[in-house]
Amino acid sequence: MCGSDMKPVRKAVFPVSGLGTRFLPATKAMPKEMLPVVDMPLIQYAVAEAVAAGIKEMVFVTGRTKRAIEDHFDYYPELERELEEKGKDDLLELVRNIVPAGVKCVYVRQPQPLGLGHAVLCAKPVVGSEPFAVILPDDLIDAENSGIGQLTAVREAQGGGAVIAVQDVAPEDTNKYGIVSVDDQGCQTSQMRGIIEKPDPKVAPSRMAVIGRYVFEPKIFDYLEKVKPGVGGEIQLTDAIAASLDQIPTFAHRFEGTRFDCGSKQGFIDATVHFARKRGFKIN
Ligand code: UTP
Repeated sequence: MCGSDMKPVRKAVFPVSGLGTRFLPATKAMPKEMLPVVDMPLIQYAVAEAVAAGIKEMVFVTGRTKRAIEDHFDYYPELERELEEKGKDDLLELVRNIVPAGVKCVYVRQPQPLGLGHAVLCAKPVVGSEPFAVILPDDLIDAENSGIGQLTAVREAQGGGAVIAVQDVAPEDTNKYGIVSVDDQGCQTSQMRGIIEKPDPKVAPSRMAVIGRYVFEPKIFDYLEKVKPGVGGEIQLTDAIAASLDQIPTFAHRFEGTRFDCGSKQGFIDATVHFARKRGFKIN
């Protein structure tokens, strides 16, 4: 594929259908993606990151108990009228900019939480034959340049293909992540040769761990359709990526920025302290 006829990435998929069991009881009736870091829900950080990368269509793969996400990105005329009448222009601006002009939100339902791979596959009718981004909102990235934007830039520089964000983790932590093997571990961007889910540190091919940011060619759907359910009956995204590596050039990219695992309580607290400090709040 040459750079000139390469389609840009215009759509981002947000798989938000997981059960969020690590945050019970908070997440029994409320999506974990609506948990606020300071005053903004996780999902809004993720959408802002996509918007900063020039992405115009946000595709949410939702499930039961996720209605608050749709409401968050919907109009709220009564609230806007109230803020307008009271002259609270800053708040009005804040509420109106949750979805910036020209950005569209689409919702697809994942009928059962059958795994991340299955959630991505549910977006196929909306994504169609375009390259697309996948953003896991519980991985919160604070970066000068949009995290997902860094990946789309790599895709452009490579003339197409898939790009996956990675981060070096402690050797003893490889069993918590998808771990990749690449041509050259010394490079910031390197072609991927393998990916394995949660390997024991003794057999891990590297310390390069997959973080929740991906850019895919639409052909990944062919592989997702063929993946057999793995551990816990889940359809794993990792298995589809592994199967596609011979056919789709796939690059691992060490992104620049700080990542917080907000799917875990510790990561969520770290993110809250980090963003609170950045915003000038005092942490005693
Ligand atoms: P997690 O592994 O964090 O699972 O999913 P979870 O259910 O959200 O949270 P815990 O582990 O029970 O606390 C990683 C991402 O994949 C999405 C989740 O919403 C999250 O963004 N996902 C997972 C789906 O959309 N559907 C699924 O069937 C599974």
